[in-house]
Amino acid sequence: MAKKDRGLKAITIGVLSRLLQNIAYFAFPFQLVVFLHKLRGVKVGKGSHISRYVVIDDQVSAKVVIEEGVAVTQGVMILTHQRDLKNLRPGISIMLLDLKHLDVRIKRNAHIGIGAIIMPGVTIGEGSIIGAGAVVTKDIPDFSIAVGVPARVIKTYNEDLD
Ligand SMILES: CC(C)(COP(=O)(O)OP(=O)(O)OC[C@H]1O[C@@H](n2cnc3c(N)ncnc32)[C@H](O)[C@@H]1OP(=O)(O)O)[C@@H](O)C(=O)NCCC(=O)NCCS
Repeated sequence: MAKKDRGLKAITIGVLSRLLQNIAYFAFPFQLVVFLHKLRGVKVGKGSHISRYVVIDDQVSAKVVIEEGVAVTQGVMILTHQRDLKNLRPGISIMLLDLKHLDVRIKRNAHIGIGAIIMPGVTIGEGSIIGAGAVVTKDIPDFSIAVGVPARVIKTYNEDLD
């Protein structure tokens, strides 16, 4: 019985989270979008922007932390789940494999370019810029610019201005 209750609760939360995601997808201004994602459990720091057409994982959106001063621009996708492929064998449907859920953290003042995809488990460093259309599969260090598929760091910057 308790198990059934937990199931119902999980289903209700899942439905609400997906509804809010769909509204946030088309909503503006960015403050409303941030508010809707916060209702879904995403942690969003002060001064951060989340644009329209952004998708933040439906499975466990609470595993996403967006620190302060971050820009998540249009069309970005942030994922926190994927199939665990360690038991993958010929003839087995991938849909039957367990899911694994991994945290994503976008550190303060980072900028995620249009259409980028942030994969499960990734941390984007402080002040780092992810180029438009990048697929980020590994952590990106602080104060870096990373582009491409998979994303690679092409520049780093520091306090020396020239
Ligand atoms: C990543 C970015 C910040 C780099 O800007 P930059 O430092 O001025 O870089 P450059 O234009 O000098 O390009 C450096 C190299 O990276 C490549 N590059 C730049 N952006 C790229 C991208 N998004 N994907 C793949 N390669 C890219 C360039 O072709 C160039 O390659 P080369 O050295 O082989 O010629 C910028 O190109 C970008 O993608 N910005 C995001 C824009 C965006 O989403 N804006 C949202 C507004 S709301």
